[in-house]
Amino acid sequence: MARVAIVTGGTRGIGEAISLALRDLGFTVAANYAGNAEKAKAFTDATGIKAYRWDVGDHQACLDGCAQVAADFGSVDVVVNNAGVTRDGVLHKMTFDDWNEVMRINLGGCFNMAKATFPGMRDRGWGRIVNIGSINGQAGQYGQVNYAAAKSGIHGFTKALAQEGAKYGVTVNAIAPGYIDTDMVAAVPPAVLEKIVAKIPVGRLGHASEIARGVAFLCSEEAGFVTGSTLSINGGQHMY
Ligand code: CAA
Repeated sequence: MARVAIVTGGTRGIGEAISLALRDLGFTVAANYAGNAEKAKAFTDATGIKAYRWDVGDHQACLDGCAQVAADFGSVDVVVNNAGVTRDGVLHKMTFDDWNEVMRINLGGCFNMAKATFPGMRDRGWGRIVNIGSINGQAGQYGQVNYAAAKSGIHGFTKALAQEGAKYGVTVNAIAPGYIDTDMVAAVPPAVLEKIVAKIPVGRLGHASEIARGVAFLCSEEAGFVTGSTLSINGGQHMY
């Protein structure tokens, strides 16, 4: 039977590309989304991939949503924690809500989804968790103390959980995308974005499919010896 993958934020942007890449690898994919029901329906109509609505920042909703996916398809073997939001602003203008919402969804979502699925992967002796971090969690970014902190937290979370999963066949890795041509990056003021792109050695924004390719590798059978790693896919903008 095909293995089952949940992709959070899986109906749009990078998540949509990941859902398609995992489907093409032979996984049964469940695409989670939070708000845009119209886009989710269009995604399901176009791809046949079932979409499930819940807020990854809501602990109980993750437990219930993952239980529903398991009831529909048998188990959850792969989780890609891709869902994320920005509430950019310099610290002196940032509100507590801006801070909290980004931490709740971007970092809290990883914990909630792992709590719902990691025990089953561990019991069955096979699993893949891929967390989508960010170049801005590695290098920081002006106007993003909330997002950079949450994404940096994701990289620490990944390395800690990788140690817990290793002897049970559960790998936990992160991808750190750079600036990708998604709605999230399109929301950056054009003058600011122009300066950022000028600092990307490859000379362009990345494509969602280029992130999805990395996720597909980390979820594959052949990547069983890769755990606790961060794969940076950023056009050379930050190397370390
Ligand atoms: N370094 C140093 N100074 C900077 C700066 C930088 N990178 N960016 C802006 N400044 C300075 C400006 O020059 C300006 O200085 P002066 O007042 O002396 O002229 C001052 O900061 C205020 O700048 P803004 O007018 O831009 O301030 P603002 O409050 O209107 O907006 C902001 C601030 C919201 C942070 C805006 O600059 C912005 O949106 N920046 C982009 C942030 C960004 O890159 N977000 C990434 C989103 S995509 C993503 O997150 C995906 C991913 O994982 C990569």
